Amino acid sequence: MTNPSTLENTQIDGSLGPPEPIQETTLPSPFDEYFLSSLASSDFPRLVELYNSDLAFILFSPPYPYTLSDAQWFNDNCAHNRFPSYPGTQEAWVIRSKSHSGILVGICGTHPHPGKSEQHFRLGYFLAPEFRGKGIMPAVVTEVLRKFPGALFEAEAEVGNLGSQKVLEKCGFQYVEDGDSEKSWPVSKGGGTRQFLKFVKQC
Ligand SMILES: CC(C)(COP(=O)(O)OP(=O)(O)OC[C@H]1O[C@@H](n2cnc3c(N)ncnc32)[C@H](O)[C@@H]1OP(=O)(O)O)[C@@H](O)C(=O)NCCC(=O)NCCS
Repeated sequence: MTNPSTLENTQIDGSLGPPEPIQETTLPSPFDEYFLSSLASSDFPRLVELYNSDLAFILFSPPYPYTLSDAQWFNDNCAHNRFPSYPGTQEAWVIRSKSHSGILVGICGTHPHPGKSEQHFRLGYFLAPEFRGKGIMPAVVTEVLRKFPGALFEAEAEVGNLGSQKVLEKCGFQYVEDGDSEKSWPVSKGGGTRQFLKFVKQC
């Protein structure tokens, strides 16, 4: 079935391309040095750099080693997905720094939940190492979730990832008592199993 969010992207020749970028959002003070934007092809080398850094061993989903083709696939298949119930939203919110010429600082992902309602999302996020520990991600998540009134968000954080758990708690997520899970980690990223905690937030 055709994804309705791609229909608006049909080009004159019938091929699909990314829609117009969404309107940029500057974070509220004191984080107004950062803004939310859409993914661009000029970000692909930065994604390759970051997903091959420590993130390769922290994040479950991105392939490793990560290539420019993987970035192109993410751009073409996920990043620009739109959600008809929430006009002006997209799947991948690129966080950029004004004083660093708009460099990609990180991404906050609002991923549709397969098999669940159009109001049900999974949240994911990361920052480049040099931008961590400054309180940026709680400000980003708060701003992004404001764009999804009435939506239900789920998020998972590894048991040992206290920074990620704190982000969720600061943003009003609740720990789900019986939601703990175990994931088989990809062999390319070290293999083994890891324990995750589940959090939810009704916006
Ligand atoms: C997790 C992450 C998104 C947090 O974003 P951030 O903007 O750095 O978050 P903050 O600066 O608000 O820091 C989070 C809080 O956790 C605390 N924290 C961070 N690491 C910690 C650790 N190892 N132990 C205890 N507390 C820790 C910080 O002190 C801060 O708490 P505070 O505000 O009370 O001082 C960011 O560190 C990151 O991108 N990490 C790598 C990718 C990742 O883990 N993604 C999430 C996968 S589930």
